[in-house]
Amino acid sequence: MTTPTIELKPSASPLSDAEREAILASPGFGRHFTDHMVTIKWTEGRGWHEGQLVPYAPIPLDPATNVLHYAQEIFEGLKAYRRPDGSVATFRPDQNALRFQRSARRLAMPELPVETFIEACDALVRQDQAWVPAHGGEESLYLRPFMIATEVGLGVKPANEYLFIVIASPAGAYFPGGVKPVSIWLSEDRVRAVPGGMGDAKTGGNYAASLLAQAEAAAKGCDQVCYLDAVEHQWVEELGGMNLYFVYGNKIVTPTLTGSILEGVTRDSLLTVARDLGYEAEEGRVSIDQWQRDAENGTLTEVFACGTAAVITPVGTVKRTGAEWTHGDGQPGATTTRLRTALLDIQRGTAEDTHGWMHQL
Ligand code: COI
Repeated sequence: MTTPTIELKPSASPLSDAEREAILASPGFGRHFTDHMVTIKWTEGRGWHEGQLVPYAPIPLDPATNVLHYAQEIFEGLKAYRRPDGSVATFRPDQNALRFQRSARRLAMPELPVETFIEACDALVRQDQAWVPAHGGEESLYLRPFMIATEVGLGVKPANEYLFIVIASPAGAYFPGGVKPVSIWLSEDRVRAVPGGMGDAKTGGNYAASLLAQAEAAAKGCDQVCYLDAVEHQWVEELGGMNLYFVYGNKIVTPTLTGSILEGVTRDSLLTVARDLGYEAEEGRVSIDQWQRDAENGTLTEVFACGTAAVITPVGTVKRTGAEWTHGDGQPGATTTRLRTALLDIQRGTAEDTHGWMHQL
């Protein structure tokens, strides 16, 4: 695999300091984008080439571009944090780079070298570092690397040309309500992914597949949909865009990776952070009947969702056909809060990075 260098073409018209500061004061999630982006091309026979750091701009696509028809697309999400000394670091970018390679393999796309993935993210954050929000708050700079098939033509086959892009977006809390508990609709008929499918790849198709059930969840007054396995329709898998954890007193449990669940970097990190804090942390199978029963008998003390965008978000009310129950009292539970604080302290640079997770720019 070749590793291209990234050539800088600075933006002639970046946003003014005042415009940028106004956005950073209340960024929301995924609504504003920084001044630049990184692009790298891949062509069969030539490999990766033309690495560029260019002004953020639309990408013109021929209407017959392969990705528009057959959805050969993968993406990642990771965050850059402002540290107390004003410097900037990203969280476990190597894990995102490796998952990007796994997703690429699943969708028959070329694998970007790990060091190129990290250098592309670094180059963008270095150039647009004024966009990294101030230290200490909920805000960070969310990076969205992605790759699309750019060959023009309607034949169904792996494309012979691809475009890798990294864009960045200042981000506050993913849910408009902040870190307040979210409500969940348990979808017992629609599934997100099937055994042997693409559930463990981070590809847009999985998110498209989640939208109808998400809309049904919204119609039932819920913030998120929770998917069950596609065979027995009873084992909890994940939400539309984040993993789940169940708290049983001093033990936390997250659904075992079955191939149809996304291997979340936050999910993985929490297994370690929880053990560091003295919790038992394990992967296991949790059925919806067990979820309901253990909530009702009080052994299941808290439930939370986790992901790069969502960080750790408590789950409050859960609804399924014919039943409804609520975890907690409307506030994040003690374990959820403790894990959230411990993880964010590492990410923001206020706790020692004992696992070498932070990548300082
Ligand atoms: C992330 O957490 O980074 C994701 O890609 C999930 C999406 C719901 C924003």
